[in-house]
Amino acid sequence: SGIGIDITDAALAESVQQGIARVERLLHDSVQSDFEFATRTSLHLVDAGGKRFRPLFTLLAAQFGDPQAEAVTKSAAVVEMIHLATLYHDDVMDEATMRRGATSANARWDNSIAILTGDFLFAQASALIADLGAEAVREMARTFELLVTGQMRETVGVGPDEDAVEFYLRVVFEKTGSLIATAGRFGAWFSGADQAIVESLERIGRLIGIGFQISDDIIDIASPADESGKTPGTDLREGVRTLPMLYALADPETEPRLRDLLSRALSDDAEVHEALELLRASNGLERTRATLDEYAADARKELASLPDTPAREALSVLVDYVVARTR
Ligand code: FPP
Ligand code: MG
Ligand code: MG
Repeated sequence: SGIGIDITDAALAESVQQGIARVERLLHDSVQSDFEFATRTSLHLVDAGGKRFRPLFTLLAAQFGDPQAEAVTKSAAVVEMIHLATLYHDDVMDEATMRRGATSANARWDNSIAILTGDFLFAQASALIADLGAEAVREMARTFELLVTGQMRETVGVGPDEDAVEFYLRVVFEKTGSLIATAGRFGAWFSGADQAIVESLERIGRLIGIGFQISDDIIDIASPADESGKTPGTDLREGVRTLPMLYALADPETEPRLRDLLSRALSDDAEVHEALELLRASNGLERTRATLDEYAADARKELASLPDTPAREALSVLVDYVVARTR
């Protein structure tokens, strides 16, 4: 578990490691319930070996103030719990059978249990957010709204008068960028960092978050299950138009067969396999990687405005990681 980014500064590495350990303890404490089954179904994903990307980002953002502050740990745990809650719900909506290399909760139990476990995590996260104060509650409510509208927008799909790429980028900001932006804002804010730094880390989170989802969408097409821990082609099966598909469709050279396949939701495994092969051969992945590089470059530009510290260096390694995980 852990994304294993290389933090060269020993003191920073130690601080982050201790911070993650505190977050882990809080995550485990927070899912304790008199109803032992709820704890068990929650631990299913808590312990599934996630990357803890969001808490790590919160902890790095907190290095511009006091990273030991109790509210920093709480906010990092909250962000991960909200993220986990959305994954339980997302796997129901996507009918996914695999998550983090293990059986998804909806497949292991059923849709009701998966949905309720997401709700349980949301309830426990809410109790922690209350300790962070009314402004944090409002901030999280706003983020929550964006997660929901992003997911709804994706479900409904692009309208006939809308630009498909713009629509995609908006969905990606809402469903993924918004929470990572809040992860950065919370870390900096609760560490007591200056307002300008808080806002900068929110912007960096937004850019990293959009990049993170773009790389996720590349992985859905490019990576085998044993590397991603998820079933490839899930977006294709669900009829979700991700950036690699949109670019492949915009290419006049694209195989008519790929166009034909992408014009409908695929259910048949053989068709999904064929579409994946054609997508991998198109220029869609290459163009998507170029877009990902643009978001990474913007994030690095924003990073340059922060004080030159080991934390800034580690954040730039985090940006490299988001790009590198697709290659
Ligand atoms: C994963 O995308 C899904 C999200 C990032 C957002 C999910 C949001 C909700 C389910 C709505 C809000 C629900 C709650 C409890 C706040 P993906 O399906 O592209 O990623 P994947 O490949 O990891 O499945
Ligand atoms: Mg999904
Ligand atoms: Mg989804």
